[in-house]
Amino acid sequence: MEEQLLQLKQDALVKVKEACDLKELNDIRVAYLGKKGPITEALKGMGKLSAEERPKMGALANEVRGAVASAIEEKQAVLEKEAVAKKLAAETLDVTLPGRPVNIGNHHPLTRVVEEVEDLFIGMGYTVAEGPEVEKDYYNFEALNLPKGHPARDMQDSFYITEDILLRTHTSPVQARTMEKHEGKGPVKIICPGKVYRRDSDDATHSHQFMQIEGLVIDEHIRMSDLKGTLNAFAKKLFGEDREIRLRPSFFPFTEPSVEMDISCMICKGEGCSVCKRTGWIEILGAGMVHPNVLEMAGFDSKKYSGFAFGMGAERIAMLKYGVDDIRHFYTNDTRFLHQFHEHE
Ligand code: DAH
Repeated sequence: MEEQLLQLKQDALVKVKEACDLKELNDIRVAYLGKKGPITEALKGMGKLSAEERPKMGALANEVRGAVASAIEEKQAVLEKEAVAKKLAAETLDVTLPGRPVNIGNHHPLTRVVEEVEDLFIGMGYTVAEGPEVEKDYYNFEALNLPKGHPARDMQDSFYITEDILLRTHTSPVQARTMEKHEGKGPVKIICPGKVYRRDSDDATHSHQFMQIEGLVIDEHIRMSDLKGTLNAFAKKLFGEDREIRLRPSFFPFTEPSVEMDISCMICKGEGCSVCKRTGWIEILGAGMVHPNVLEMAGFDSKKYSGFAFGMGAERIAMLKYGVDDIRHFYTNDTRFLHQFHEHE
């Protein structure tokens, strides 16, 4: 028995020494010191021993158990230390490594223009209205006093989907839709930004898809002077306090009278340059007093109500404001172009 115990001790100590992780060590602990382990078994067999051998063997068994237990404890401390060191090594941060650059995005220049215009008009009591880009011929043309076959339809080459459905050629159908919703009751004060489509060949100043911003006011006693004051405030806000405006007679089927608005050139201040084609004035938008036919078709009494409307191309505004020379830059999404429009610089 003595030999057996000493052999056990030797085997256990070798295994403990060789254990390379905490799990293996724990398995050794269970195997040797556990209730069903060989040391416990040996102690059970003590009954068969003589009275003088019993205390000797008892002491030896305890000595073996103590030696194995303390070897395990020591090894455990070593392995735990190793595990911590390993973990720390794996998590080492090299604080001298240069960081990855964080790319901060910015709003698209067209979004900036639209938001600036919206902010101005919201401040004057307007609400933002939207309408579908796939539109009925009725709202795009007929309700705007452009019946089928009207020659002015040629001004807006269109993408038809069916005979009665097309991609809207302007944001003016939102006027007709909004008025219809008001069921003949004013006031109406809306600003409508949105995408529009025309069958144009793309070049530096034309795009088959572009953005417009439309405005509409309907109420009792709305006069041309209200339109002029509003456009004046708009021009100064977007292009600088020293801008002057000029209204020129024009034609749109949905307004009467109709005008086009120019602003004094902000580049040459009126002296004449290539941007204003040496005239000192830059054309910005179309506008006018809402045609009585348009009011009536949408259910408004044109004797009681009057109104004004205006519509502009967002790209044109952005091109003038930021000095962009080709409309296609807005759509090709070259990040070198887009990153020039950080609002916080
Ligand atoms: N819809 C016109 C266009 O696309 C722009 C326009 C002109 C809108 C006059 C208006 C307006 O509301 O009154 O060319």
